[in-house]
Amino acid sequence: MLKVKGVSKSFGGLRAVDQVSLEVEKGQIAALIGPNGAGKTTLFSAIAGFHKIDNGHIEFEEKSIANVAPHKIARHGLVRTFQITQPFARLSVIDNIIIGAYQLYPDYERARAHAQGVAEQLGMLKILEQPSVSLTVVGRKKLELAKALATSPKLLLLDEVMAGLNPSELLETIEIIQQINQSGVTILLTEHVMQAVMQLSSYVYVLSYGQVIARGVPKEIVANPKVIEAYLGREIVDA
Ligand SMILES: Nc1ncnc2c1ncn2[C@@H]1O[C@H](COP(=O)(O)OP(=O)(O)O)[C@@H](O)[C@H]1O
Ligand SMILES: [Mg+2]
Repeated sequence: MLKVKGVSKSFGGLRAVDQVSLEVEKGQIAALIGPNGAGKTTLFSAIAGFHKIDNGHIEFEEKSIANVAPHKIARHGLVRTFQITQPFARLSVIDNIIIGAYQLYPDYERARAHAQGVAEQLGMLKILEQPSVSLTVVGRKKLELAKALATSPKLLLLDEVMAGLNPSELLETIEIIQQINQSGVTILLTEHVMQAVMQLSSYVYVLSYGQVIARGVPKEIVANPKVIEAYLGREIVDA
């Protein structure tokens, strides 16, 4: 469904993404892991059209989407969330979700009904009228997810939607992501919480200094000495 081939992206002299190739199959949950600064967010931004790439090819459903504008890529069904959430702070939760739904339903009532359905799916009905600025961390993460889901994506790129959640919020979010996937949405996610990566993903790519240093099923990845050296070992030392 998504094919990334030899993609590079530099900022000045820094190669944030260096010759990355990866594939996501329809129906799958795949994960992209790696230390801070590895280039995960930059790669997501490049795939979703927010960064021009220097080299390589990106195909979504057999069509080239490299350097296509984000709203056009979103209309094809590929949408990313932002690691740093960006709601319109003074608008209510439901109005923020409606803005996402508008891309699909230019009619207000239909957009609102669709947004309500998404909010219900994410367990957000109690906070719909709150201004977004007043949300807790989990509330903001859910809103970010809801805004993306409201566009009815086929492929969702989730950038650290579980960072900062407590254990029960984490379990709830893992279930929500499974349920979104079961409803037919393919997912590529970045995540530091290995419990979530292990539970959710069927295939994992490991990025370090902009390069894919390992790929495989979660069990292989956590036992891979290169991955432990570049990432997992370091995380344990930090903790
Ligand atoms: N807009 C930007 N301008 C300059 N450097 C950037 C920009 N975005 C990211 N970088 C740099 O690119 C590298 C990869 O960052 P990022 O993609 O955010 O990594 P990750 O998401 O894996 O933590 C880092 O060294 C970061 O400082
Ligand atoms: Mg990031």
